[in-house]
Amino acid sequence: MTYETIITETRGKVGLIILNRPKALNALNSQILAELVAAVNGFSADAGIGAMVITGSEKAFAAGADIKEMQSISYVDAYSQDFFVGWEEFTRVRKPIIAAVAGYALGGGCELAMMCDFIIAADNAKFGQPEITLGVIPGMGGSQRLTRFVGKSKAMDMCLTGRMMDAAEAERSGLVSRVVPAGELVEEALKAAAKIADFSLPSVMMAKEAVNRAFETTLAEGLRFERRLFHSLFALEDQKEGMAAFAEKRKPNFTNR
Ligand code: HXC
Repeated sequence: MTYETIITETRGKVGLIILNRPKALNALNSQILAELVAAVNGFSADAGIGAMVITGSEKAFAAGADIKEMQSISYVDAYSQDFFVGWEEFTRVRKPIIAAVAGYALGGGCELAMMCDFIIAADNAKFGQPEITLGVIPGMGGSQRLTRFVGKSKAMDMCLTGRMMDAAEAERSGLVSRVVPAGELVEEALKAAAKIADFSLPSVMMAKEAVNRAFETTLAEGLRFERRLFHSLFALEDQKEGMAAFAEKRKPNFTNR
């Protein structure tokens, strides 16, 4: 499939998606949403792919939802179309997705990064939820996901003042998992994704499902869910292979079975 607003590449077992609307700082319009969802679903359906990386440019991961596309929308249209509901499909992807963020990740850009499984930031990254400056509030999950990442006080600060957070503050507050030099961002993210993609895919997918469950349920239910998934992994050939390889002091050869 050919895309106009994103570029996709395959690097070994990793699917790389580059947001590519440079003139609009990768603002997220309906076309980029449709293409992004098609791309992640395509990589998900590809048995040769074990993980994905989404990145933007050095200046902007994404500077938000496309304000020019949104500005004339009416309440009735927003409500009737359930505007932004399309992003829910993105969050249903079951293979891991790493957001590699350089430059601006604002509004919907920050929200897209938070929909990924973890965020690796370049040292020039800037995160923010500036919707309040436009007379609105986050609409792609920012008020909920940012609060779960960084806690109430910082989330309120970001959503009420619209200020940006730099990469160091983002790492300190748990929004990003690591910060790397801007020039090494994509390679570092690809390296992390390649490492994940070399593990047994079903166990990787279950690890993602288990961690995500921590955001949806009580501790007791989450622990039960984790234990049941853990038990089920003993049905895999990859569990036998992984543990045998450890005992035999060799590298495991996982087959995703
Ligand atoms: C549409 C955008 C855009 C956006 C930038 N551009 N952000 N277009 N939607 N979110 C466009 C600009 O209009 C400009 O186009 C070009 O990209 C370059 O941007 P500049 O502003 O000239 O660049 P710079 O001076 O470097 O400033 C960078 C910036 C600024 C600080 C990131 O662009 C900015 O503040 N952008 C808006 C950030 C924002 O408010 N995001 C949240 C959106 S709302 P031209 O044609 O003039 O060259 C959202 C969720 C909404 O995401 C949920 C509620 C419903």
